[in-house]
Amino acid sequence: MKPTFYITTPIYYVNGAPHIGHANTSVAADTVARWKRLDGFDVMFLTGTDEHGQKVEKAAADAGLDPQAFTDQVSAQFREMGTLMGLSNDQFIRTTEPRHHAACQALWTRLLDRGEIYLGQYEGWYAIRDEAFYVEDETVLRPDGIRLSVATGAPVEWVTEPSYFFRLSAWQDRLLALYDRVPNAIMPPGRRNEIVSFVRGGLTDLSVSRTSFRWGVPVPNDPDHVMYVWLDALTNYLTALGYPDETTDLWRFWPANVHLVGKDIIRFHAVYWPAFLMAAGLEPPLSVFATGWWTVRGEKMSKSTGNVIPPAELVATYGLDPVRFFLLREVPFGNDGDFSDAALIRRMNNELANDLGNLAQRTLSQIAKNLAGVLPDAGVPTEDDQVLLTAAQALPVALRPLMDRLALGEAIEEVWKVIRAANAYIDRQAPWALRKTDPARMASVLRLLVDVMRPVATVLQPVMPGSMARMLDQLGVPAKARDLASLNQPLPGGIALPAPAGVFPRHIEVVA
Ligand code: ME8
Ligand code: MG
Repeated sequence: MKPTFYITTPIYYVNGAPHIGHANTSVAADTVARWKRLDGFDVMFLTGTDEHGQKVEKAAADAGLDPQAFTDQVSAQFREMGTLMGLSNDQFIRTTEPRHHAACQALWTRLLDRGEIYLGQYEGWYAIRDEAFYVEDETVLRPDGIRLSVATGAPVEWVTEPSYFFRLSAWQDRLLALYDRVPNAIMPPGRRNEIVSFVRGGLTDLSVSRTSFRWGVPVPNDPDHVMYVWLDALTNYLTALGYPDETTDLWRFWPANVHLVGKDIIRFHAVYWPAFLMAAGLEPPLSVFATGWWTVRGEKMSKSTGNVIPPAELVATYGLDPVRFFLLREVPFGNDGDFSDAALIRRMNNELANDLGNLAQRTLSQIAKNLAGVLPDAGVPTEDDQVLLTAAQALPVALRPLMDRLALGEAIEEVWKVIRAANAYIDRQAPWALRKTDPARMASVLRLLVDVMRPVATVLQPVMPGSMARMLDQLGVPAKARDLASLNQPLPGGIALPAPAGVFPRHIEVVA
């Protein structure tokens, strides 16, 4: 039986259209999911939309629509974003689905039955933009009389209402023990430190129901209350596996391997969520990984601010795979990055067109011209050949640990080291000059380059699925031999390769 691997994206609020921040998190999760499938895992990849709460209710009212009609519309935009970005998600979940209401209510009942939830009264600050409760110390009063969350800058309002509470205060020690026991429970390490010190600082019980609006999952047996949108939203990760039925096939995926989230929502995932789960007698996720933010001229890109880059425009201008490549390549995964078209164009020109595109083009056009398009057999490798071939063949082993800690940029850099070495090799060996003097050696050099490009294109499939499929077509690799395990079987010599065709666009001009 294959080992299982469950990865999720945040479910996105449907208060506005998707932008490249969402696209980036989704593409990163997609890349990891594809990598694990390529490496023989049984994968579940989940994404979707978060449709309840005051923020969405308000966005619907602003749009003059009832919340269900509004969420239908915006959720569809997120689904289309997934198609546009080439996501290979196994499910797309919406929190307005009946199966999700059932899962939330079952989890609630379990927490109530176990004495983890009690009825009280909430009095304190609430930020609709963050859908988060704040104690006074976490807020600041501006001179104009508006009070804001210090952490996020979102305006807060005073709330007094009957509310159910979750006994979060009781979970401090068990959360700290969990972070100790599971070394990668929170990644990257900077985020882990932030959460550990937050939990060490002490936890207060968490309000988990609201009575001042209706757009949410009703609390069982107390219809005045709807569930706090974060308890509702986090439960989606269980809903998708058929919860509360823990006997179905899908339940094999629990606990999740990775919840990929933005750093703005790490506390919900790394503190509240494992506490809810442990309180319900369920296993906490194995890891939560927080991405950084895309900024535009230094400011966080966000639906609420409106300074967004729509993914559709980028893909229309540059093509899907260059955009996917850029998002994962430009900044070390987990760090913030400032978006610019110039940076994207630079990556496309230097790394896709020059490095990878030219390597393929030079090799394949020489095979077409000088060897009638037939893949030669491998020759006896020289020392120069062997060094390059070994580096290329070692890529799966080199990449596994990097992919396991979601060091996506570093993983791509490892591949580029091989690509750059292959370009240096081709210059050094100058196969075009051997056509008359040593045609056998020319054939061996070209064959070696194909044997180097094959693992390169294979491991890059998760990042650029369409272009790498075309490159593998060009290299004569059969569709069923494109996973990591197949790299152990050499390509037979003597097969006719398709006529060479460029995989990436040529240079594009940088416009200021
Ligand atoms: O927080 N840069 O939804 P959300 C990079 N519904 N990533 C960004 C980004 C940016 N500027 N802006 C958003 C929610 N993201 C909740 C989640 S999960 C149970 C509920 C990405 O629509 C990032 O991954 O505000 C962030 O965590 C996510 O979108 C938040 O999307
Ligand atoms: Mg947000």
